[in-house]
Amino acid sequence: MNIAYNLKFLKYHLFAKHRNGHGIHSPFVYELLTTVIESDDQFYTFNDIENLRIQLLTSTNTIEVTDFGAGSKVQKSPIRKIKNIVKYSARNSKYGQLLFRLVTFFEPKTILELGTSLGFSTMYLAAPYSKTTVYTFEGCLNLSKMAKYHFSLMNLKNIQQITGNFKTTLPETLKKIKKLDFVFFDGNHRYEPTVNYFQLCLEKAHEESVFIFDDIHWSHEMELAWKQIKNHPKVVLTIDLFFLGIVFFNTEISKQHFTIKF
Ligand SMILES: C[S@@+](CC[C@H](N)C(=O)[O-])C[C@H]1O[C@@H](n2cnc3c(N)ncnc32)[C@H](O)[C@@H]1O
Repeated sequence: MNIAYNLKFLKYHLFAKHRNGHGIHSPFVYELLTTVIESDDQFYTFNDIENLRIQLLTSTNTIEVTDFGAGSKVQKSPIRKIKNIVKYSARNSKYGQLLFRLVTFFEPKTILELGTSLGFSTMYLAAPYSKTTVYTFEGCLNLSKMAKYHFSLMNLKNIQQITGNFKTTLPETLKKIKKLDFVFFDGNHRYEPTVNYFQLCLEKAHEESVFIFDDIHWSHEMELAWKQIKNHPKVVLTIDLFFLGIVFFNTEISKQHFTIKF
């Protein structure tokens, strides 16, 4: 499995084109690529979040985790070291900072995140604008409690945490949300749940919405889910960054699928 995954990554690394915007004819994608995806702008918040990550990576504490999802390929026991959750479950600084820049660029008012874990991606999503509301979902109560503490350390007050299985919490919460501007799908990396969450969120999406899927090449099931999402009639443009897939619905953009080296 790991060999197949590494080969997929190697293929992406060798053949993904369009670095520095070369060969991109879509003005929208060109702007996104040159000003957001490839930007190396730094913000003070990045240091605060990354200092917390460094601190947790040296932690010797453990936590009991309840996993309602596809689980981890590396961490099998429910008693997990905090440092391993940071290492294996959280998106690293490069991707966290990309989420931050995407939020800065699109200025979403309502963000939904499936999979809080210790809250690293949530902090990057919530930090740009205090007026944005971030609804973040997590099944494990112990992780939610720790994430809550991290949000308070960062003084982030625009995060609403929803704890429980996505199966019930997502449809219940969506009833209360009028429209979704930005969604980060980062939990339960399996075919059926991923497609199901996508369809549920799609009901609240609009032309300007941005959906981001984590680990689109993680497994055969995720490859299938990504393929189905790309082929959905409402999906206009997709950008495959290997570890993340970005989806747009704006009909003013011409239908295209890009694979971009990141
Ligand atoms: C990959 S981690 C999220 C990492 C986080 N977004 C970050 O980058 O820091 C996925 C999380 O989703 C949660 N999860 C998976 N399936 C779930 C489900 N069906 N219901 C609730 N939570 C679930 C897991 O408990 C796990 O903490």
